[in-house]
Amino acid sequence: MAVERTLSIIKPDAVAKNIIGQIYSRFEQAGLKIIAARMAHLSKREAETFYAVHRGRPFFNDLVEFMISGPVMVQVLEGENAISKNRELMGATDPKKAEKGTIRADFAESIDANAVHGSDAAETAAVEIVCFFPTLDVYSR
Ligand code: PPS
Repeated sequence: MAVERTLSIIKPDAVAKNIIGQIYSRFEQAGLKIIAARMAHLSKREAETFYAVHRGRPFFNDLVEFMISGPVMVQVLEGENAISKNRELMGATDPKKAEKGTIRADFAESIDANAVHGSDAAETAAVEIVCFFPTLDVYSR
């Protein structure tokens, strides 16, 4: 199994609900290590750049407005199959369709306010990690 890194964002709805610790526990219990972390309040330009691949889709403006509505908690997770493991923990994009026991099923309100983001592939993860963390701020262990 490959040791991978993935970018995780705890979105404004989950930060406002004060459940950062509960979400971190799920990462840790699944064997994912938090090797970099910081809180940020994204500017519109930063959010538009981060989600540039979705520009032009009907939900793009709503997604950007939501992501700048409050602070987010951003982390790099490392572990075996970290990318798919994190996405399993997150559950489906729409919390109504997310499997029971996943972060989105348990904590998210709607497809707009869906608690967490996770990279969907190794190439995306590499690009997303660099958006938030200079190499020197990532502590593999
Ligand atoms: S896709 O087609 O697989 O790329 O789309 P998906 O991964 O499901 O969604 C991409 C990101 O857009 C968010 N999203 C939405 N935001 C607001 N409203 C609606 N209707 C909506 N649909 C999808 C979704 O949460 C994804 O954001 P991240 O931050 O990656 O979870």
